[in-house]
This record gives sequence, structure tokens and C-alpha cells, in this order.
Amino acid sequence: MNIEVKTICCIGAGYVGGPTMAVIADKCKHLKVIVVDLNKEKIDSWNDRDLTKLPVYEPGLKDLIQRCRSKNLFFKTDIKKAIAESDMIFISVNTPTKKSGLGAGEASDLKFIESSARSIAKFAIGDTIVVEKSTIPVKTAEVIKTILVSSQNEFKNKSKKSFTVLSSPEFLAEGTAINDLLNPSRVLIGGDDDDAINSLVDIYKNWVKEEKILKTNIWSSELSKLTANAFLAQRVSSINSISALCEKTGADISEVAKAVGMDYRIGNNFLKPGPGFGGSCFKKDILNLVYICKFYGLNDVAGYWNQVLKINQWQQSRLTNIIVTKLFGTITNKKIGILGFAFKANTNDTRESPAINISSELIIEGAELTILDPKVEEVSILKDLKEFIINKDPSIKVENQVEITSSYEQIATDADAIIILTDWDDFKKIEWQNLSRLMRKPSWVFDCRNTINLNNFKESDLNIWKLGFGSNINNLK
Ligand code: NAD
Ligand code: UGA
Repeated sequence: MNIEVKTICCIGAGYVGGPTMAVIADKCKHLKVIVVDLNKEKIDSWNDRDLTKLPVYEPGLKDLIQRCRSKNLFFKTDIKKAIAESDMIFISVNTPTKKSGLGAGEASDLKFIESSARSIAKFAIGDTIVVEKSTIPVKTAEVIKTILVSSQNEFKNKSKKSFTVLSSPEFLAEGTAINDLLNPSRVLIGGDDDDAINSLVDIYKNWVKEEKILKTNIWSSELSKLTANAFLAQRVSSINSISALCEKTGADISEVAKAVGMDYRIGNNFLKPGPGFGGSCFKKDILNLVYICKFYGLNDVAGYWNQVLKINQWQQSRLTNIIVTKLFGTITNKKIGILGFAFKANTNDTRESPAINISSELIIEGAELTILDPKVEEVSILKDLKEFIINKDPSIKVENQVEITSSYEQIATDADAIIILTDWDDFKKIEWQNLSRLMRKPSWVFDCRNTINLNNFKESDLNIWKLGFGSNINNLK
């Protein structure tokens, strides 16, 4: 399909659609870029004059939006109009795990992909290139193509239309999304129509070197995305499993990670231990991989990848148990401060955050929590906790046991323990001596992200527990 791309549209104004289109608009001033979503509130936030109200927090995003919005970047709810005027349409909708029906709990729910394809089929005019940006099971392009082709027949007499489907999965990580989009390790484009592929290459070529643009067949492209996420998650589970062994043997996980990572074949990225991986994708993408493996009868392969998820869950339960045990086996009515609720630093996203699981278990054990996160809003924290706890113990009133604060003094006052769950830089600057004075003794700090410099602790009378720290001594003095 040889077309001149002048207008592009992205269906889905979320963590991927918004930042990705902002970068394309900034780098391709000759293109008109329209981002559409069913969610009017979200579109209103993208259009808010107050840039602190953008629905996604990402370093560098505000500046891009300020530069491009209403010039060549538009956020709209009129999906029909945006599709009709676009030459290329990106699908960046959510692909959560299915909650019911065939494959529930493992397979991807493709209802949003399907409805996007149906809207494109109905409203597109002329030749249109459709790009899958969402993460989807291998062979999804076939579903999209089938819907689009049947529409070609259905609407044949009304207007002439034709489609080409490409796969170009997104590899950005939250918190570093803008940098990842500007300097990608690679841009992957799968498809079998060279002209359409080149139209997408022409967009990326505005800022990405051509040798970084990898062209593959469409199924390799779809499967590469799931595989990349599975490998990344596997490294986190690997280092977390070794963190537990360090605690038993006297080894120090940061020393082990450094020694292992210096082997160029292994490399030093993604070797930070923590409370388990969160984020909207690792769990759902591995579940999806497990489902596909089972579908093709590869049960041992499915079991292998499932273990990555099991270790992740185990790490969260193990941390909760350690905390309760150190606090004399009971935390009923004890005050505990939680530092960090986002699934990682530099994002306001809490999807699958280990903080949800760990905080909820502490609430169920009777603790009173004070929670501080630099970017996550109070409503999100309360909603996440309520959703988790309602299934476990509907009698618990979350508001009675949880306070959200932005004050470190409030976190510490009368607290028996403070738990670091997200690796925000702000937490590295805490003057522990000052907080220690406010806490009830004996008081504990559980550093589940290894962010604390132990030298800052020497003068305080706090007990510290560090993840994967072999000499997890009760008191450093
Ligand atoms: P998100 O939930 O933040 O955004 C998706 C948006 O799509 C929502 O706002 C939703 O309202 C909208 N939507 C759903 N169906 C629609 C329809 N038919 N028409 C218009 N809008 C519709 O999701 P996300 O985090 O941006 O992820 C999107 C996809 O990208 C997923 O497949 C995910 O696996 C993948 N991905 C995510 C990340 C990430 O860091 N979040 C990174 C790479 C890939
Ligand atoms: C991840 C991938 O890194 C992206 O390439 C991919 O595009 C994206 O998923 C996706 O498909 O959604 P993201 O989940 O945003 O990105 O963030 P990561 O930096 O990968 O972190 C995931 C989780 O692993 C976080 O909870 C993080 O704290 C944890 N992690 C990461 C560790 O515990 N240790 C590490 O060394 C690295």
C-alpha cells in the first residue's frame, strides 16, 4: 500500500498512546496527530490548561504537550472523524487478562482491540495502514485483518476502502517513557507489505537511526514483545529469589548482583531486587504467554514461565511475613508508614503495584497505615486497597485504617515501622535521625528497595532490615 501519510490517529490515550503520539508530533511537525479515547474525562485531562493535571505523569511529557498540543497534536473523543481523516491508525488500547469465559485468568481480553478494529472498519475512508501498538497474543493481526477485510466487502458499495495491518509493539518503560521513545533500543516493525512498512519507517526515521529499525514478519514481531517482557520479568524474579538466599547465607545481594552483572554476557541491567515486579504488563503478558504455550500443547514451557510469576507473588508474601515477624508477630493497631505506592519510581501508575498487595495484607493483619507517594493521588491509593481487600475481608473499612499524607513527620509520628516500597529518589534524602525521634521504640525501617545509605543510619537508634542483606542485623550500632 503506497500512500502519503499526512494524518495519523491513535486509538487509546493511555500510558502508551499519549506519550508515543506526543513524541511523534514533536519530531514530525509535518504530520497531524490525533489521539482519541472513549474516556471523555481522560481526554479532558489531556486538554487541561493546567499541565499538572495530565492523566499520565512522565518526566519530560509536560514540555512536549506544551510544545505540540493544538498545533499538530490533538486529543479528541470524536473517534469516527479522527479515523475517517487518518492515513495511518495506531491501536494503543488496553489488553488486560480475561476475567471470565474461555481462557479466564490467563488469556488476553481482546475486546478493546476488536472494538477498535470494528470502528476502523466502519469509519475509515480509502487506503489505511493499521498499526498494532498494544501488546497482544501472537496471531492477533489475523483477527484484525479478518474484521477489516469483511468490512471491505460489507461497505463495498458505499465507499472504497482497503487496509494493511502492521505490528509495531511498544517497548517504552514507564518513568523513562519519553527518553525510551526518543532513544529506543530498537523499533520493531512486522508486516508483509513493504510500502506500508516504509511509510512507518519514514515516520521513525525523523529521529531514529535506520539501523535501529528492525523489520520482521508479523508473527515474529508480535511474539518478540511478549518474549522481551517475559525475559525482563524473569530477571527480576531471578534476582529476588537470590535475595532470599543472601539473607540466609550472609551474602549481600548488591555485591552478588554487581559481581554477576559484570559478566558482559549477563549485563548489569534489571538486577535490582525489590518487592516483586508490578506494572500493568509483566504479569498479564506472562499469563498470556503461558496460555499460548498451553494452547499449542507446550505445557512444560508454560510451567517454566509460570514459575516467574509464582516467585513474584512469593517475594511479596515473604516480605509481609518478615515485617509481621519482626514486629513481634502482631501488628494489630500498630502504626506503620508506607513510603511509595507506585509500582516504580517516576510514574503515577499503581497497576499491579506490590504496594497494593503488601499494604492490604498489613491492613488485614490489623495495622494502621500512613501512606506517602510523591505522585500517586489519594483516590487511586484508596481505590486500589479497597478493590484488593473487598475480596479478602469485606468487613474491613479501609478509610478507618489508612491515612494518606505528604508529610514525612506524619509518616514517622508514633510509628512502629516504616516500609520503603518504591524506589523514589526523594526517599534517599530522608534524614532518618530526625524521623527516628518521632517513632515509637523499638522502631524498624524495612528497606525493600535497598535505597538507604547505611551511613545515614549509624547515628539513629532505628533497627533496619534491608532486602537481600546477609548481615540483616537488628541494629547497626
Ligand atoms: P491504558 O489503559 O493506559 O490506555 C488504554 C486506553 O485505551 C484507555 O484510556 C481506554 O479508555 C482506551 N480504549 C479502550 N478501548 C477503546 C476504544 N475502542 N476506542 C477508544 N479508546 C479505547 O493502557 P496502556 O498502559 O497505554 O497500554 C496500552 C497497550 O500498550 C497495552 O496492550 C499494553 O500491554 C501495551 N504497553 C503498555 C506499556 C506501558 O508502559 N503501560 C508499555 C508498552 C506496551
Ligand atoms: C516494562 C518493560 O521494561 C518495557 O520494555 C515494556 O514496554 C513495558 O513493561 C510494557 O510492556 O508495559 P514497565 O513495566 O513500565 O516496563 O517498567 P520496568 O522498568 O520494566 O519495571 C517493571 C517492574 O519491575 C517494576 O515494578 C520495577 O520496580 C521492577 N524492577 C525492575 C525490579 O524490581 N528490579 C529491576 O532491576 C528492574
